[in-house]
Amino acid sequence: MENERINVTKTFLPEQSEYQKILSRSWDKSWITNRGELVLELENKIKSQYNITNILATTNGTLPLQIAIKCLGLKGDIITTPFSYVATTSSIIWEGCTPVFVDIDADTFNIDPLKIESAITPDTSAILATHVFGNPCNIDEITKIAKKHNLKVIYDAAHCFGVSYKAQSIFEYGDVSTCSFHATKIFHTGEGGALFAKDKALFDTLFSHHNFGHNGPSGFHGLGINAKISELQAAMGLAVFPHLEAIFERRETLYKLYKKELAGKAQFQKIEENCDYNYSYMPVLFKNEAQLLKVIEVLNSNNIFPRRYFNPSLNTIDYVGGGVMPVSEDISNKILCLPLYFDLGEAQVKRISTLITNSILNE
Ligand SMILES: Cc1ncc(COP(=O)(O)O)c(C=O)c1O
Repeated sequence: MENERINVTKTFLPEQSEYQKILSRSWDKSWITNRGELVLELENKIKSQYNITNILATTNGTLPLQIAIKCLGLKGDIITTPFSYVATTSSIIWEGCTPVFVDIDADTFNIDPLKIESAITPDTSAILATHVFGNPCNIDEITKIAKKHNLKVIYDAAHCFGVSYKAQSIFEYGDVSTCSFHATKIFHTGEGGALFAKDKALFDTLFSHHNFGHNGPSGFHGLGINAKISELQAAMGLAVFPHLEAIFERRETLYKLYKKELAGKAQFQKIEENCDYNYSYMPVLFKNEAQLLKVIEVLNSNNIFPRRYFNPSLNTIDYVGGGVMPVSEDISNKILCLPLYFDLGEAQVKRISTLITNSILNE
């Protein structure tokens, strides 16, 4: 239908009967939270599918960042990217640390490793980097720098479900990695997320922090918070899981079609070569903000709603105050995430691309 509203994303929902069949298991047991069998099954499925050392499913993808900062005992400055969702920066501030921004690479949109070392001071305790739109950071360089300066590394891998880097799950990198299973993400549990850490002692600390610090019903390891995922959320994850291969495949097809249709008219993110990518977003970069605004206007008037993501550059947010980051600010002003979801049709991708092409040509 020509005038059907098209949003930037549409949550993948399995047949309701598939969800209900799984949910009935929690009804039968009258058990809907506190790590019941559905949460354990979901964790085990993800763990074995992607060969992951340790996974802890959580109620969203923000608390894992805060818990990671707390459990690693980070203090002072944390080097981070200005080009991410606000949760990356706000988690640092929420935990009483200071975000120190390092500008991004104009092609990959990830933190620029060449600029990290000059931002390190005696107050720096860690690097918190985002694999932007599921595109792996320059992990080798970041690891080298962190080792040299004795810094911890956290990867905000919110967009990375299904991504591997050098034949290993992307979640295996860094001291801690985090993911989001929000309804807008490629794999979702409605709201949800996960923590990953290879080191068992660290993983155990993360685990106890996500459950009020409990050590048994009456004892406590120490401070904690509640980041538990429920059985209701896990049931959604278990219902989505069998469809993942089809979801990845479909998105790859549509992503490649957009690239073909828009070749020469817009720029695309440069994806790391050593990776198995998940096609989680369709970011395109226009010549300037005026061109981007024109494209948005034309698409909106055709009932199509892409999203300016990430915008604004995080260093420009009032409560953050992070200096000037020319590359990130420039990209934030010119980037648009186009509609990309499982049941988007090829014809719709072609129509969106034609509208974009025409609006650029008619400038
Ligand atoms: C890069 C990034 N980090 C963290 C988050 C937070 O995840 P959640 O919404 O699951 O709390 C998001 C969510 O959109 C994100 O895009």
